[in-house]
Amino acid sequence: MDFIILAAGNGSRMHSATPKIFQEIAGKPCIAYIIEECRKFSEAARIIVVTKKEFANHEIFKDITIAIQNHPLGTADAVKSALPFLKSQSIIVMYADMPLIQIQDLSVLIKDMHKIALIAARIPQNMINMPYGRIIDGSRIVEYKDATDEQRKIDIINTGIYKFDHNFLQENIINIHNNNSSNEYYLTDILDLADANDKAIYIVDNYWAFHGVNTMQDLIRAEAFMQNKLRKQAIANGVKMLDPNSVYLSHNTVIAHDVVIEQNVVLKGNVEIQSGVFIKAFSYIENSIIMENAKVGPFARIRDGALLSSSSEIGNFVEVKNSIIGEMNKIKHLSYIGDATLGACVNVGAGTITCNYDGFKKHKTEIGNNVMVGANCSLVAPIKIGDGTVIAAGSTITENTGENTLAIARSRQENKNDGAIKFRRRSKC
Ligand code: UD1
Ligand code: MG
Repeated sequence: MDFIILAAGNGSRMHSATPKIFQEIAGKPCIAYIIEECRKFSEAARIIVVTKKEFANHEIFKDITIAIQNHPLGTADAVKSALPFLKSQSIIVMYADMPLIQIQDLSVLIKDMHKIALIAARIPQNMINMPYGRIIDGSRIVEYKDATDEQRKIDIINTGIYKFDHNFLQENIINIHNNNSSNEYYLTDILDLADANDKAIYIVDNYWAFHGVNTMQDLIRAEAFMQNKLRKQAIANGVKMLDPNSVYLSHNTVIAHDVVIEQNVVLKGNVEIQSGVFIKAFSYIENSIIMENAKVGPFARIRDGALLSSSSEIGNFVEVKNSIIGEMNKIKHLSYIGDATLGACVNVGAGTITCNYDGFKKHKTEIGNNVMVGANCSLVAPIKIGDGTVIAAGSTITENTGENTLAIARSRQENKNDGAIKFRRRSKC
């Protein structure tokens, strides 16, 4: 089987500088979903992506055969660009803008032996105004733009997934004309070139698998569908979400059983949450690993390259970036920990920050085991804090400390007797 994926359109209805095929759903580009599903069909299946020249070297397309369509003259013209690369007798054509598709949704087609077969879907009534091609008389397609008001009410739509006999495709694709409202070569017109016995239209009910993304609104609908699916999978695996609709996941989020996630939590990019973790409300976690029984939030920001070891606790308004937080650490209030490594049982007081950036470069903070950092300290990197060090509150630490040091780096307090009385007298209140 050869798969042709059409991905050379302009995507102009999206009104975005990002090409439609690279728009993301749950953090993965639209086109990547489709390529992955085709790969699941068989190792031997050939995938040909028809795209624009400027996308040909995109990393998503490595190991993929690329056919270039120089001008987007329509879906039939796009298929023509792929013809020189076809080797199999059975060809499946799909559009690149249906990220919710799964390979099993194509099973009705895979077994079919007609010269042309396609999947049509019954569209829910609340989506009836979506501008899909409509199936007319069970045998041909009228594009929405060219359809009458009556035809637009038809609830059976063209999904844009076809199976062709190679010879039939080769012989007939060149006979498609562009005399329609868009002056485009519509692949859908190929149905008119097949005898009734040579074609089959399969009508399916699972519309959402075939949802096409043309506008930003379509993309948002696809995102909502995917989020729901990811949440359900996580819940089925033993994750407790107190308000699932307010938890946002990525296509590659890994969450173990017995994790509790409170309301309004975002897990973005490569995030792994191990069992027993408790994520409190309004936390934002990106490209990080949270190990067993750790507690995060509320209002925590854990970002790129953070690793929270087992039973560590990150509290409210704490940001952790590119840092290893040791086992049983407590960083519970208003801190920034960046480019740091913390040993086991470290306690970081409220308002403490690592000063990791000198205006030119990022520097590392290394903190040993059993360190106690008082509240409101600045640790100026590069810096090493030895095991067992205690740092007095309000210190600005610029020098390394050895084992069990008590480091105090703040100006001494001066108490002036009756000074407050004099002050009040001066301010007359
Ligand atoms: C298309 C179908 C419509 C169907 C709908 C399903 C046609 C004429 N219409 O409409 O019947 O209901 O999909 O979602 O096929 N592309 C190219 N080169 C081009 C034009 C398009 O590669 O010259 C690609 C696009 O990148 C896209 C796909 O073909 O991935 C479909 O094009 P699009 O413009 O999205 O067609 P629709 O209007 O959605
Ligand atoms: Mg489309």
